Amino acid sequence: MRFSGKTALLTGVASGLGRAVAQALANEGARLVLVDRAKDQLENLVLLLRGEGADVVELVGDVSREETSRQAVALARSRFSSLDILINNAGINPTGTISQTDPAMWQQALDINLKSAYLFCREAIPHMVEAGKGVIVNTASIAGQRASTAEAVYGVSKAGLIMLTRTIARDYGAKGIRANAICPGVLESVMADRLTRMSAEQVAARDQRFAPTVPLGRLGTYEEIAKATLFLASEDASYVNGAQLTVDGGLTA
Ligand SMILES: NC(=O)c1ccc[n+]([C@@H]2O[C@H](COP(=O)([O-])OP(=O)(O)OC[C@H]3O[C@@H](n4cnc5c(N)ncnc54)[C@H](O)[C@@H]3O)[C@@H](O)[C@H]2O)c1
Repeated sequence: MRFSGKTALLTGVASGLGRAVAQALANEGARLVLVDRAKDQLENLVLLLRGEGADVVELVGDVSREETSRQAVALARSRFSSLDILINNAGINPTGTISQTDPAMWQQALDINLKSAYLFCREAIPHMVEAGKGVIVNTASIAGQRASTAEAVYGVSKAGLIMLTRTIARDYGAKGIRANAICPGVLESVMADRLTRMSAEQVAARDQRFAPTVPLGRLGTYEEIAKATLFLASEDASYVNGAQLTVDGGLTA
């Protein structure tokens, strides 16, 4: 039980990767503060985890709002008296070239994918500094490491998230805080917001197009990315700081 007695705050947990990470952390004994804007899905997860014996509290909110970051960190402190791990995972996946990206979409993507992580780190770091320890894991993407076709603002937001992570690693390492980014490749499941713009045929075509280009010959699963996220969040990664852990089956090798 690597996370017994640890408090972890996670964003974007109502579906996909965040849900898998929350389940894996709960299985390893962590106390959880879970944040998402999808109320029903969030509450279902909380009921499931509590049923399995986990100590969990939830907050429904938009992660791009400063108020949500304040409330979430305050909740961790009031309910569990500590905040050991922050996992900034919430995100959206807008598509399009720069010409196809209107200013409202540009702003929304940066607010949700990048500004939210800044806000949550800004709230959490003073408590971690006071405690003399803390771990931050930001869910970036290989789209932030090299350009992807027609994912302009998504890639920019994830590149920014990687640099935010590295900046924190440099500025706060001496205070006992480690910050790392995880960069998943193409996963079996398309992100929820993008799925609303795709037919089942388009999803199948995407899978058929990408899988053969991955050296391991298949797309990744949420559980595989969750395992790598838990590594970064754990003491097993005690000397890993400012890293970008690419988990893509070799796609960008
Ligand atoms: N699925 C992939 O192929 C893939 C690949 C690389 C990186 N990622 C990254 O992994 C992370 C999780 O993606 P996923 O595949 O699980 O997608 P997902 O759409 O299933 O999950 C995203 C979660 O974030 C929440 N969310 C979105 N905007 C929010 C907001 N403003 N406030 C609060 N909650 C909000 C959603 O409700 C959802 O629960 C994202 O940061 C994504 O960029 C995913």
